[in-house]
Amino acid sequence: MRPKDVCILTGATGGIGQEIAQLFDKKGFELILHGRNELKLETLQKSLKGNHHIICGDLNDAEVRRVLIDEAFIDREHQPTMLINNAGISQFKGIDEVNVNDIESLIATNLIATIDFTRLFVSHVKQGSTIVNVGSAFGAIGYPGYSLYCASKFGLRGFTEALIRELANSEHRVCYFAPRATNTSINSKSVQQMNTELGNKSDSPEFVAQELLKLINSKSVRKTVGWPEKLFARINGILPEIVDKSIVKQTKEILTFARGEQ
Ligand SMILES: NC(=O)c1ccc[n+]([C@@H]2O[C@H](COP(=O)([O-])OP(=O)(O)OC[C@H]3O[C@@H](n4cnc5c(N)ncnc54)[C@H](OP(=O)(O)O)[C@@H]3O)[C@@H](O)[C@H]2O)c1
Repeated sequence: MRPKDVCILTGATGGIGQEIAQLFDKKGFELILHGRNELKLETLQKSLKGNHHIICGDLNDAEVRRVLIDEAFIDREHQPTMLINNAGISQFKGIDEVNVNDIESLIATNLIATIDFTRLFVSHVKQGSTIVNVGSAFGAIGYPGYSLYCASKFGLRGFTEALIRELANSEHRVCYFAPRATNTSINSKSVQQMNTELGNKSDSPEFVAQELLKLINSKSVRKTVGWPEKLFARINGILPEIVDKSIVKQTKEILTFARGEQ
């Protein structure tokens, strides 16, 4: 544990973000909490014991991203040394139901904003840093109804892996963290129903926050949460045909949930 770390946490007002904030507060981190809703951010800030800060704005706007990073670094007694790119959105729709706005907003939020925010962060950090990109089990396993989300998280995994290797000889440590389904409001009622019906396991956001801290405190740079997702992700990387067979058996049923027909 490195309690002196000043950590920028994006999506701090979300289900997983709030739990990361609570846990990191207890562990002595100084947090720069990011979200889009000032009121939610202030409520979160007040619920924490430490002296934390707020930055507020939409990550889909390039100029806002630049201002947010400036705000995170300017006039700080201790400069940020950690970035957790946790903000994200999801969509559960068949490809025949998505429109061009769905495609653009999902890729913009989960991929473009995260890549650019990381770039800006790295350009501001004078010494070493830790960067954690929050991906997903769906960043390694393609799943029906999640084609856009999978595209964004596969992309994020590729970006992170390249950066892990590119910055290996620098003072930056880059990590990829992949939760499986987690009980937060990012998952619609149909997703929750589908997970229950198909026996897909779901974690609490508290548990996910603890797993993320374990990754930070370890020597690893990758962590997938949950079993059998960990194994599935590995098999999918080597023999995707095997995973095709097991998922395709459920495709019809999955798509009835995606279309809200259940
Ligand atoms: N929950 C799961 O099942 C699950 C599984 C695997 C991976 N993940 C990943 O975990 C991360 C957190 O998810 P969550 O479950 O905590 O979701 P959540 O409760 O919906 O929270 C998402 C957070 O991202 C922020 N956000 C979304 N779009 C933004 C934008 N354009 N600009 C700035 N902030 C934005 C939201 O801010 P507002 O409060 O302003 O909306 C919120 O703070 C995501 O990257 C997600 O893909 C989640």
